[in-house]
Amino acid sequence: MPSKISDVVTPGTFARQDQPSIPVPGGLLIRPWQAADAPAVYEAFQDPAMQRWHARVADSVDEARGWIEDWGTAWSEERDAFWAIADATTNAVVGRIALRLVVLADGRAEVAYWTMPAARGRGIAPRALTALSDWAFTEVGLHRLELTHSTANEASCRVALKTGFVPEGVKRSALLHADGWHDMHLHARIRGDEG
Ligand SMILES: CC(C)(COP(=O)(O)OP(=O)(O)OC[C@H]1O[C@@H](n2cnc3c(N)ncnc32)[C@H](O)[C@@H]1OP(=O)(O)O)[C@@H](O)C(=O)NCCC(=O)NCCS
Repeated sequence: MPSKISDVVTPGTFARQDQPSIPVPGGLLIRPWQAADAPAVYEAFQDPAMQRWHARVADSVDEARGWIEDWGTAWSEERDAFWAIADATTNAVVGRIALRLVVLADGRAEVAYWTMPAARGRGIAPRALTALSDWAFTEVGLHRLELTHSTANEASCRVALKTGFVPEGVKRSALLHADGWHDMHLHARIRGDEG
């Protein structure tokens, strides 16, 4: 039976193009991951805050290299898309930003991010998130981007609020961290919302 509703974004839209790089104001670039980024990813995951808020931890540079290979192939599968946030001049990694659980036909995805400990407090995550969101709404045509973080992660909540991701409520006991179940704060931006 034919669907009564057209696809919001045609499946294949990601797979038929190379993963793009996206400029970010303030001398940053969101770009695809490179094998040479593995030591930076390993270093990022030695940070206690990264270990607190992320389920997986890289135990070696080789393991980080394996993740980068997986992040590279994810693009063509159109479910997740991972970018490095890099200094546009030096190419050094200052963070990561991603679209997760992408459903092109339904026009929605989740956003996720982290920044290197030494790069925090300079508005890097908000600027990268705004650039990625603008690209996702304008160039791709997605309709809704969701953002969830533990209610205990105040820094992540600040990123969401500063970038126009409107609070929509709390998902109770929604994600298991090392210290137990966390309530997750749900935010979202809809295409057409102010950034
Ligand atoms: C959450 C995170 C991505 C924010 O990135 P960022 O580039 O530092 O973002 P900002 O500069 O806008 O800072 C956001 C908030 O972090 C806090 N902050 C400021 N300086 C900080 C520092 N040096 N170290 C840690 N947090 C800091 C402040 O509360 C700030 O909010 P404010 O600007 O309203 O004061 C980053 O702290 C991080 O990667 N944390 C560990 C992993 C994580 O929490 N990932 C998100 C999971 S949902």
